[in-house]
Amino acid sequence: MNETISTILRRRSVRVYRPDPVGQIELAEMLEAGRYAPSAMNQQPWHFTAIRNPDLLRKLEENCKSAFLESNVEALREAAKQEEFRVFYHAPLLVIISGDPGALAAQYDCTLAMENMMLAAASLGIGSCWTHAVMMFHSTEKGKAVFRELGVLFPEGHQPYAAAVFGSPAEPYAEAPPKNADCVTIID
Ligand SMILES: Cc1cc2nc3c(=O)[nH]c(=O)nc-3n(C[C@H](O)[C@H](O)[C@H](O)COP(=O)(O)O)c2cc1C
Repeated sequence: MNETISTILRRRSVRVYRPDPVGQIELAEMLEAGRYAPSAMNQQPWHFTAIRNPDLLRKLEENCKSAFLESNVEALREAAKQEEFRVFYHAPLLVIISGDPGALAAQYDCTLAMENMMLAAASLGIGSCWTHAVMMFHSTEKGKAVFRELGVLFPEGHQPYAAAVFGSPAEPYAEAPPKNADCVTIID
């Protein structure tokens, strides 16, 4: 198995982080990997917002948790009811990829860019986890207002399509959760 495929298989959603920041060089490489993702008609309708300020992360996290508390998905509500539950898992870096909704396929483009970032991170020994609460919270009027108040501003008209936290895993990578192999049809 080559190195790329072994990195893809090794990547896990990491939910326990050490507080040490992600280095500048590693962040730049991850962002570059994101920017090289494919996009519909090469529109690259994205913008990458990387938040490393611990105080801002904490404030945003507390607010985003309310999206889970108000979710109609019971499992999310139950998780968020736990006092110690943190939607960012104490990670030192949050990246939000916003896009222009008027682009041909902004959501796909931004999601592909985030997967590139997550795989680049895994190749550098940096863990990651998609953070859906960010999109859920921002989709509400209150959420948009809180983002504005906290100074997390996206380019005019953009909306966040992908968000993930990154950092050094505090524990060895967990074994892969069950992956269904019964989902392939090959037509020769
Ligand atoms: C669209 C999407 C939303 C997700 N939202 C969250 C989330 O809000 N919190 C979280 O801890 N994990 C989230 N995940 C991570 C999944 O739970 C995880 O990918 C899945 O359980 C498989 O585990 P693995 O990534 O380690 O292979 C999300 C993943 C995707 C693709």
